[in-house]
Amino acid sequence: MFGRVSTLALVATSLLSHLVWADTPINPGFPYGSQTVRGVNLGGWLVLEPWITPSLFDNTGNPNIVDEWTFGQLQDRNTALNTLTQHWNTWITESDLAAIAAAGLNHVRIPIGYWAFEVGPGEPYITGQLPYLQKAVTWAGNHGLKVIVDLHGAPGSQNGFDNSGHRVSFPGWHSNSTNVQRTDNIIKRIASMFSTNPNVVSIIAPLNEPAGFDGSEVLSVVRQYWYDSYGNIRFPFGTSQESNTVVLLHDAFQPLSYWSGFQTPPNWQGVAMDTHIYQMFSQDEVSRTNQQHIDAACANAGDLSSFDLWVIVGEWTPAPTDCAKYLNGRGVGARYDGTFSGSTKVGSCTGKSGNRNSFSSDYKTFLRQYWEAQVITYEKGQGWIQWTWKAENADDWTYQAGLAGGWIPQDPTSLKYPNICG
Ligand SMILES: *[C@@H]1O[C@H](CO)[C@@H](O)[C@H](O)[C@H]1NC(C)=O
Repeated sequence: MFGRVSTLALVATSLLSHLVWADTPINPGFPYGSQTVRGVNLGGWLVLEPWITPSLFDNTGNPNIVDEWTFGQLQDRNTALNTLTQHWNTWITESDLAAIAAAGLNHVRIPIGYWAFEVGPGEPYITGQLPYLQKAVTWAGNHGLKVIVDLHGAPGSQNGFDNSGHRVSFPGWHSNSTNVQRTDNIIKRIASMFSTNPNVVSIIAPLNEPAGFDGSEVLSVVRQYWYDSYGNIRFPFGTSQESNTVVLLHDAFQPLSYWSGFQTPPNWQGVAMDTHIYQMFSQDEVSRTNQQHIDAACANAGDLSSFDLWVIVGEWTPAPTDCAKYLNGRGVGARYDGTFSGSTKVGSCTGKSGNRNSFSSDYKTFLRQYWEAQVITYEKGQGWIQWTWKAENADDWTYQAGLAGGWIPQDPTSLKYPNICG
C-alpha cells in the first residue's frame, strides 16, 4: 500500500501539467480511427501455452509441468533452455511475418512475459526471449506490419492462467505492490526500447487480462496501473515530450461501459481499449448452436461501435468449442465432451479440433460463417487480432490453418456472407 501512495503522488506530479491543458494529439504509426486493424497474435512463442505446443510439455514426461514456470522448475535447466531455444528459433521466423502480410493483415500482437526482462529470486523462469522480440519487430518492419508488444505475464501472475506464465489458484500480482512496481519498471523498459520506432511498434499493451473478475480490489490496482502505464508509455523520454506510441488497455473482463470516460480525449491521447471475445469458457457457451454462436458474435456490434475509445478485439477465434487439447490447461478436459470437471457433455470432440483433415465440409462452412460474423462485427470497432497464427494441432483456432483449409479468405475483406449479421 505504501508503494501505491507514492506511485499516486508521482503520477499526480507528472500528469498534472498536461491534465490542465489537453495532451498534444498523437500521430500514431497506423491511422487508428480511419483504417481497420486486421491482425493475428503470435501466441505460444515467447510465452509458452500447453495447448499451442502440447509436444513441448508431453516431451518432458512430467505431468506436473503445466506452464512456463514449472517448465523451468521441474526439469533439468539445460534441457529446458535447449528446448526453448530451439522453439524460439523455429516457431516464428521471418517467413511467418511474410505470410501474415501476404494474407492482407496489417498487425501482429506479440505476447511476452516479464521474465524476458527480469527474473527475481526464487523464480524458476528460463530467460532469453528478448532478442526474438527484437527480431520480430525487424521482420514486421520488413513486411510493413505494425506490432503490438503485449505484456502477457506479470510477477505474481495477473490472472492465474497458464498463459500468464504461472498457473495459480489465485493471482498474486495485484495484492503485492512490489510486483506492481516491478511491472511498471518493465513497461518503462519496453517503452524506452520501442518509443523511437512507433512506425513499427505502434502500440504497447501494458498488461494482458488482469483478473477484474476477482473484484473491486483488483480493479482499483488495475486502474492505478493504467494511469502509471499511460505516463510510462506516452512520456518515455524523461521529459514532457510525448511519444507516438498508443497505449492499449485491457478491459479486465469488465463490460466496456465500466470503462466509459476512462482516459478519454482531449486530456488523454492515444489510448485504445482491448477486449477479448470467446464463446467456449462456460457450459452455456459451449452449448450454443451454430446459429446462436453467430448471433452472439453479431450482438457485440452496438457496444463496439459506441465506445468512447478506439476498441480493438485483441483476441477471438473461429473455434466454437473448448475441444483443443489442453485448452483449459494441461491435464484438464473439455466442457464440450464432458471431460471437464463438473461439465455436461454437449457432443463428441472428434472432428471439432486437431487436424483439419478431420473437419467435415459443413463444419468448415460454419467456421467460415462464424469467422465472417466476427470480422464484420469487430470492424464496427477499430478492428481485430485473431488468436492465433499457428498451433501444433488445433486447426480450428489458427489463421494459418484457416487460410490453408479455405474457411479464412486469402483477402480478409472478401466475404462470402456479408449479410450474415442481418
Ligand atoms: C511480493 O512479491 C515479491 C516479488 O516480486 C516477493 O519477493 C515478496 O515476498 C512478495 N511479498 C509478499 C508479502 O508476498
